[in-house]
Amino acid sequence: MPVYILAIESSCDDTSAAVFSDNTMLSNIVANQQVHKDFGGVVPELASRAHQQNIIPVISKALVTAKIDKKMLQAVAFTRGPGLLGSLLVGTSFAKAFAMGLNIPLIEVNHLQAHVLAHFIQDQGEIRKVPSFPFLCLTVSGGHTQIVLVKDHFDMEIIGQTIDDAAGEAFDKAAKILGLPYPGGPYIDKNAKSGNHVFQLAKPSIPGLNYSFSGLKTSFLYFLRDKLKENPQFIEENMNNLCASMQKAIIDILIDKLLKAAKQYNIREIAIAGGVSANSGLRDTVTRLKQSHGFNVYIPQFQYTTDNAAMIAIAGYFKFIKGDFADQSMTPYSRGEFSGGNWHFDKLSVKTGKRK
Ligand code: KG4
Ligand code: ZN
Repeated sequence: MPVYILAIESSCDDTSAAVFSDNTMLSNIVANQQVHKDFGGVVPELASRAHQQNIIPVISKALVTAKIDKKMLQAVAFTRGPGLLGSLLVGTSFAKAFAMGLNIPLIEVNHLQAHVLAHFIQDQGEIRKVPSFPFLCLTVSGGHTQIVLVKDHFDMEIIGQTIDDAAGEAFDKAAKILGLPYPGGPYIDKNAKSGNHVFQLAKPSIPGLNYSFSGLKTSFLYFLRDKLKENPQFIEENMNNLCASMQKAIIDILIDKLLKAAKQYNIREIAIAGGVSANSGLRDTVTRLKQSHGFNVYIPQFQYTTDNAAMIAIAGYFKFIKGDFADQSMTPYSRGEFSGGNWHFDKLSVKTGKRK
């Protein structure tokens, strides 16, 4: 009998539900929250309220699109963390109530592991090549930047991470400086396509496999401040080149450490994941590593890069097979780091999904 799983994602500002069955995703519905646009970042309180409004319509649509009745579901998977606590509480509470009402098991999923496991999603009628273990996954989003050594579905080790801003934050903050709407990553990407990386921006020199993006943001700010003194129209006149230069700088920083990690761990299976993996420049650069370095590269499908419940569903499915279920007393966490399937809440510099 096919296994049907409903998955719910509500860690930040996207309310999403997906239905998964037998290795294929039957639906993946995402409601973006427009309410944050005017604030230039996610407002946690407004995010929680919008999740409350969106969750029932989004889940109904996921079930209707998948053409299944809720009675056919065998488990409910939900994002337990990390993320904004108020947002996570909406998805967690709904999942608990839904599972209890249907008398089916609950499965808790770590949002960051799910971004990595998005590489194992197969859409209907598709046979997609998936990474072999061990592989390296550069997980780049609005709240996180990590190089993850993936030894198995739930045996992952963070071997490098940002010590300050995430790559997505660097995109969003640069966009804000340029007067672009929030979230700015996609706008920078679009403008960069018509520009050239003619401006040199300061690159950090951080030892090991860790990242830093705060210096780049500051250098961009000071560079523009000086240029605007000479020419108040500097941003308007150079928008595309500025976007291309900033994008190139972020990608160079990301790739530099990824190559270093591949060499250090002698791994040739390379994947990228998270919202910033939607970036066309990053996708092209990583794709070219196949030719230049002989790596097997894995670029996620566009719809599974930014936050979505399909990635929660695939992670939930792998836990379902193992019989790894959660109980009704389970509470969400805003911060947390995985290592070998265990949780370490204390040694963290990992950011929550909160973005300013
Ligand atoms: O994974 P995600 O949806 O949410 C978090 O878990 O944070 O990532 C959102 C981030 C935002 O910072 C957004 O600007 C960035 O991903 N992003 C992009 C692109 N699309 C989304 N950054 C650069 N280029 C893009 N095309
Ligand atoms: Zn995410």
